[in-house]
Amino acid sequence: MTTPLVEMKDICIAFGGVHAVDHVSVDLYPGEVVGLLGHNGAGKSTLIKILSGAYRQDSGEILIDGKPATIHSPRDARSYNIETIYQTLALADNLDAASNLFLGRELTTPLGFVDDDRMEAETRKIMGRLNPNFKKFHAPVKALSGGQRQSVAIARAVYFNARILIMDEPTAALGVHETQMVAELIEELKKQGLGIFLISHDIHDVFKLCDRIAVMKNGQLVGTAKTTDVTDDDVLGMIILGKCPPGATPGPGALTDEVLAD
Ligand SMILES: Nc1ncnc2c1ncn2[C@@H]1O[C@H](COP(=O)(O)OP(=O)(O)OP(=O)(O)O)[C@@H](O)[C@H]1O
Ligand SMILES: [Mg+2]
Repeated sequence: MTTPLVEMKDICIAFGGVHAVDHVSVDLYPGEVVGLLGHNGAGKSTLIKILSGAYRQDSGEILIDGKPATIHSPRDARSYNIETIYQTLALADNLDAASNLFLGRELTTPLGFVDDDRMEAETRKIMGRLNPNFKKFHAPVKALSGGQRQSVAIARAVYFNARILIMDEPTAALGVHETQMVAELIEELKKQGLGIFLISHDIHDVFKLCDRIAVMKNGQLVGTAKTTDVTDDDVLGMIILGKCPPGATPGPGALTDEVLAD
């Protein structure tokens, strides 16, 4: 048995009276993609923001590599090699790929000057691995396509040794070709043993990219399942009705048989 990279155990957080995340437990193994699904407001982003250090849970525990982890800030998260790629990507539009990759963490020469040549060389090296077709090293990232921008954001996380990657809607607003490119990137990261939490509203993407899913509803976990053990309809039933199919493991938010019988 391998130790999970991440175990989030019985996590709760409330905003005012709203239980945004209510006793949720999920885990993530090396080389695995776990999809977080649920309606708008289900609590997906809030759960993930606890892992990325943007929010602090009211109760519950996070283990990294089997050991209790204290994550009170994005800096703490980074010290555990947790990197987050938000949908907005947080790229500086007027700068090129290399400048974005090293933004705030620039490489310098022995004399302390920003070392553009070395940053470009490093960028070419990592992009060569992640997205070999990428050629626009001297263009500002605003001139790149959505998928190319996505690959710059992923390269940045990977360069700084992400082991746990959080992706919030990575393929939203991407075309078919671009989505395929991001899918290939994710495959590559899995081979390198990264664990990925992926938030997505696209069932098709989820089945294609995820090894397991965790479905949330009203802040609670409806259930978890291997994607090979459930159908599209099963997953829609989990998202919409909170109904846990036979192939899934129910969570505290799953409808009970009595309610379903009514
Ligand atoms: N900072 C906050 N202050 C108050 N309420 C919040 C805050 N962040 C989230 N919430 C509430 O917590 C609940 C969960 O929100 P969250 O953003 O986690 O949902 P989500 O599943 O990511 O939805 P979406 O699919 O729309 O992104 C919602 O009811 C939301 O209004
Ligand atoms: Mg969200």
